[in-house]
Amino acid sequence: MKRLSTKEIPLIQNYLDKAVSYGRQFVSEGACASYIPELSKADARQVGICVMKPDGEIFTSGDAHQYFTVQSISKIMNLAIALQTHGYNEIFNKVKMEPSGDAFNSIIKLDTDGQIPFNPMINSGAIVITSFLKPHYSFEELLERMKILSLDDSLTLNQAVYESENATGFRNRSIAYLLKSKGVITGDVEEILDLYFKLCSVQVTVKSLAGFGLLLANNGIQPFTGERLIEKDVAKTIKTLMLTCGLYDGSGEFAVKIGMPAKSGVGGGILSLVNNKAGIGVFGPSLDEKGNSVAGVKMLEYLSKELHLHIFDNDPCI
Ligand code: DON
Repeated sequence: MKRLSTKEIPLIQNYLDKAVSYGRQFVSEGACASYIPELSKADARQVGICVMKPDGEIFTSGDAHQYFTVQSISKIMNLAIALQTHGYNEIFNKVKMEPSGDAFNSIIKLDTDGQIPFNPMINSGAIVITSFLKPHYSFEELLERMKILSLDDSLTLNQAVYESENATGFRNRSIAYLLKSKGVITGDVEEILDLYFKLCSVQVTVKSLAGFGLLLANNGIQPFTGERLIEKDVAKTIKTLMLTCGLYDGSGEFAVKIGMPAKSGVGGGILSLVNNKAGIGVFGPSLDEKGNSVAGVKMLEYLSKELHLHIFDNDPCI
């Protein structure tokens, strides 16, 4: 396969346009999430992408201006904040760092294989992370922090999605009460869940995802101001967990075929990145059976192959 020279890098736009056309071909293979009723109203045909580079270059294609809820991608933002404020030992005392091999909302291993969640990317782990944040931050304060981390101050709460999730979040309630019964979380369960649901219901675009991806790719330094927003080790920990657990029981296949740290959400977003090079946000609300965006995965697969973005490909063309 021909490699791009540095002079050809502006061709990134062509690759993004092609990735969107390619991803669009697969949207009928999935469906919008319906277990949160409000999410089923999304237009399953939408597909968008954004690539953001440390020098400030931003490339977009498709439905890049469409807002959607961040859902599980908030788990890595929350983890970044919790690791910054509580430190590595306190956090990983209450949640493991192992792939679960199960669905994102599974409750089984929480009761059968040890007492604490397998990782912070699945719902049980994210509810534990939220329990660390709850005594220290209001939702509004965390939203402000999310805006800073995603280099995007347009983030807002989608009230309708929040209410829809709160009204139907029975499985998360089961998980949270089981965690409480085991003493893994100690605060008020309903208050912790309320914060968790709100954090999942923040609206973003692919640009916001690319922004946080870029911050992680840049090892925690805001590329445009030079300010350190998160510690290098925190960024490294999050990127590793994205690679091993970010797509739940689809993480292994994604790592082999695509090989980029990534975190998905049932709103249809996937946040990905190329270390030291770029943040990438993709969107397509039609999901596969594991809750990952069908078009999003296909677009990342296309870009990984064409631009050599797999973590074990040397010399990425981006
Ligand atoms: O808790 C839930 O089920 C949702 N708010 C988030 C799940 C999610 O995004 C899984 N990701 N693909």
